[in-house]
Amino acid sequence: MRYAILGGSFNPVHNGHLYLAGLALAEGYDCVIMIPANQSPFKPHLPLQGKSDKDSPLPPPCGGGWGGVSPQDRLDMLAASIPPAMPITIDDCEINREGVSYTIDTVKDIIKRYGPDGKLGLILGNDLKQDFHLWKNAEEIQSLCDILWKDRLGDISSTLVRKKIENNEEWRYLVPNGARYIIEDRNLYTSSLRASAPPREIFQLINRIETEVRALVNTTRYIHSRSVAITATALARHFGLDPSRAYLAGIAHDIAKQIEPGPMTHGKAGAQLLKDRFGFGKNEKDILEAVEKHTTGAPGMCDLAKIIYISDKIEPARRKVRPEYRNLGLWPTIDSLLACVIEDVFEILKEKGKIPSPDTIKLLEGLQ
Ligand SMILES: [Fe+2]
Ligand SMILES: [Fe+2]
Repeated sequence: MRYAILGGSFNPVHNGHLYLAGLALAEGYDCVIMIPANQSPFKPHLPLQGKSDKDSPLPPPCGGGWGGVSPQDRLDMLAASIPPAMPITIDDCEINREGVSYTIDTVKDIIKRYGPDGKLGLILGNDLKQDFHLWKNAEEIQSLCDILWKDRLGDISSTLVRKKIENNEEWRYLVPNGARYIIEDRNLYTSSLRASAPPREIFQLINRIETEVRALVNTTRYIHSRSVAITATALARHFGLDPSRAYLAGIAHDIAKQIEPGPMTHGKAGAQLLKDRFGFGKNEKDILEAVEKHTTGAPGMCDLAKIIYISDKIEPARRKVRPEYRNLGLWPTIDSLLACVIEDVFEILKEKGKIPSPDTIKLLEGLQ
């Protein structure tokens, strides 16, 4: 195997790191090994701790890095960010070695343990070229490795990400999703508490379920589901329901649409799938009801179920939807909106020569 190594503080890992790894793979390396430095250097430009002994002061001790981020946090973010099935791996040798690691020691260690075919690749940013000769045993490094000098992706850097988080600016699309969720969960790189943010668990659940939906339905259906989720979020906000739960129910509502049809409606099958595969239970009763009943509705269904029923019918990808539905201010209650949507549904069914479900008729009667 031909290996290339990519060191760094990964504080946090960002998309530019994965891009560099991708460049090495594109050049024919079979595997890229990402190696987080033990200490979180205050000097932001060190990809590997390769500088000479003369350099001081030393970075702060282990665990006391920027924003209280520990080596374990950095390692966890990396592990959560490497894309599945890509030949990118992580080696924690520098963290285990503790103290300051020098590139030369890491290179020797990697060569010894991995036994690469040919020379080891060492990925370094072009910004480090100028001072490279000052690194400890720079010549020896060059004799043991092919150095892959690369331009960094745009201006993305860990420093930039940290600054943006601290300043409450947009940063989320600069890092892989896995790192993002850990940063948010553990409140990393920020001194301000996100008191108003909803609990993270629901976002993790959304992430898992949305991944599943993507796998189970085609792109058109996925776009529809996404549109329903976003419409439902807006309705929930307007009518005072939990927007995250509305998103979750919306994204999941057609999860079983393209599964082998059985005796159940796809709504019922979807609710069953959420129970079986994701352990949905009494805490998710409203979401299960919304998914189960979204096709026909049912008398006495909960407000979230009403919102999903409505969103499914009025999301923007649906043609022939009344423009009034876009102006939520016109609708004093969920029920007033629901009644109007159901009447439209009956109209459409009539045009197609179909009869409405008894459940929908009863639902409408209950509203009037
Ligand atoms: Fe559906
Ligand atoms: Fe749908």
